[in-house]
Amino acid sequence: MRSEFPSGSRLRLPSTLFLCLLLLIPGVGSGEALAEEPASPVKVLVTYHSHSGNTERMAEAVVEGAKSIPGTEVLLKRVGQVTADELFSADAVVVGSPVYWSNMSGEVKTFFDNWQFKFGVFPELKMKNKVGAAFATGGQVSSGKEVTMLTILAAMLGNQMIVVSGGGAFGASATTEGNSPGIDNQELADAKALGRRVAEVAARFKAGSAK
Ligand SMILES: Cc1cc2nc3c(=O)[nH]c(=O)nc-3n(C[C@H](O)[C@H](O)[C@H](O)COP(=O)(O)O)c2cc1C
Repeated sequence: MRSEFPSGSRLRLPSTLFLCLLLLIPGVGSGEALAEEPASPVKVLVTYHSHSGNTERMAEAVVEGAKSIPGTEVLLKRVGQVTADELFSADAVVVGSPVYWSNMSGEVKTFFDNWQFKFGVFPELKMKNKVGAAFATGGQVSSGKEVTMLTILAAMLGNQMIVVSGGGAFGASATTEGNSPGIDNQELADAKALGRRVAEVAARFKAGSAK
């Protein structure tokens, strides 16, 4: 019977098989870096409320930072438009809010409440072990940005998410009124740093969970 392989392939077959088997052994032929890479893309949901555009600009910078990590898929959506599937299929969720009366805005709070009312997050703890992070914009220098980020993180902790910071101690934030010239480059860089950190941590966690 005529061989389908080009001449000399018979001799190469055993060594090819041996190489394939070697590559199936974890860590062999790939190095540790491949062992750390998640099998499927890391999905990061960046969601926000914004009335006059400031928080939206920060959200776009968070997206840019997350996208800079290879193997990351990013979805940007307003909080009111996120579906249950988008929320529960994400590996990481980054939530941004304007400061309203020294706290997150009502729309963002409603988004968290809807995790149960609309999406049924309990009793299965469907957000458990997803990575979470926060960002905020506020008119004044010291008038609620950190409380806003901490209350966002508190809602995530209540859902047994793994919260991370980046850009600043509690997340990324920007001052938008008064003497501030709107969102500046440093604040946008902080938002990008947050996005990068979230994508990196989510990738490591996902790769570790797959083992
Ligand atoms: C109802 C309301 C309450 C606000 N309360 C605060 C506040 O307590 N502290 C603060 O720093 N800024 C406050 N601001 C200002 C907004 O947080 C700020 O302008 C923010 O950047 C708006 O974000 P956006 O452009 O994404 O809507 C308030 C704004 C509104 C409309």
